[in-house]
Amino acid sequence: STTVRNTMVRAALLTAVGAPLELAEIELPEPGPGQVRVKLAAAGVCHSDLSLANGVLRVQPPVVLGHEGAGTVTAVGEGVDSVRPGDPVVLNWAPACGSCHLCGLGEPWLCERAGEAYGQTYATLADGTGVYPGLGVAAFAEETVVAERALLPVPAGVPLTSAALLGCAVLTGYGAVHNAARVRACESVLVLGLGGVGLAVLQAARIAGAGPIIAVDVSPEKEELARRHGATEFVLADDQLSRTVRKLTGGHGADHAIECVGRGSTVRAAWSSTRRGGKTTVVGIGGKDDLVSFNALELFAFARTLSACVYGNSDPAKDIPVLAEHVLAGRLDLEALITDRIGLADIPDAFERMAAGRGGRSLIVF
Ligand code: APR
Ligand code: ZN
Ligand code: ZN
Repeated sequence: STTVRNTMVRAALLTAVGAPLELAEIELPEPGPGQVRVKLAAAGVCHSDLSLANGVLRVQPPVVLGHEGAGTVTAVGEGVDSVRPGDPVVLNWAPACGSCHLCGLGEPWLCERAGEAYGQTYATLADGTGVYPGLGVAAFAEETVVAERALLPVPAGVPLTSAALLGCAVLTGYGAVHNAARVRACESVLVLGLGGVGLAVLQAARIAGAGPIIAVDVSPEKEELARRHGATEFVLADDQLSRTVRKLTGGHGADHAIECVGRGSTVRAAWSSTRRGGKTTVVGIGGKDDLVSFNALELFAFARTLSACVYGNSDPAKDIPVLAEHVLAGRLDLEALITDRIGLADIPDAFERMAAGRGGRSLIVF
């Protein structure tokens, strides 16, 4: 029999909904059967973490958030054969089981068991209290323990720090454009909300050869950032958006709108800005009390499509190598998404910048 050696690691802990994240020592068990321990190299701060921390999305404290991370395998449990200590990996917050109804239909991003790890404690506090791993991967900590299927190999040549962004913003944003919306060359694309996800959408639209690529935000300081990521136009959000977009698209409206804010009002603005028969793809995650309304006649009159996507409707095992090819060929600039490199203690500041609409991605570098 092997001796169980637990490891103490530093983590940013959410002790109660609405409280600021606090640094704490957590006790991480050795990986059990089918599990892998990973030492984080970097973790991005995503708006979903803020939504979980402030109660817009439901979470069970005490919890370690963070779902966009990459690092190095430090230990593997019994039966793990796809990775070895030393391997560079990206964390996957929606690992597909491969055998449920929706996995069987070829839609692994909707896997019925993707959230299985969310509700089970994975570590303990000094007083023995169990700690939950947020969206399963608990990347706001020096090390984590996850199921083998929650890991994806980092393709050679992609640095671990920027690889972290593949785990949420980039898979989600690229997938929204290429898998969900299926944007084609020369189509017009409207992107609402220019955080890490929206900026990744802009780069993906540029890769698709789309144009014009119209970027929208409430924050004027996003213009420069947007143009650097592929926007050909920048528009400040106001109640005239659909008129402005029509002017920029030869009087038609956009072929595609990609919503990356997560509010009812922006979903509606996106939909209203598309052309007759246009397509709106919702990436943002809003609250359950935030409604979107349409009248029954306009649904028919405009014959538009409205759909949401999860994790960019990606199959990460297939899509991450494609993203890596774009990175290595210089078409996808992961570094450009990172505007702030921070420490584990600085997540509250990153949340503040995010709420104020400042900067691109904040990346915790360990
Ligand atoms: N219209 C346009 N842009 C807006 C509006 C609005 N009414 N309100 C906020 N924004 C902008 C913000 O200024 C910010 O630039 O939306 C952007 C959101 O960016 P982040 O907060 O950095 O969020 P991000 O991590 O990119 O996530 C976007 O996707 O995964 C989901 O939960 C996530 O709903 C969130 C969305
Ligand atoms: Zn995310
Ligand atoms: Zn499944």
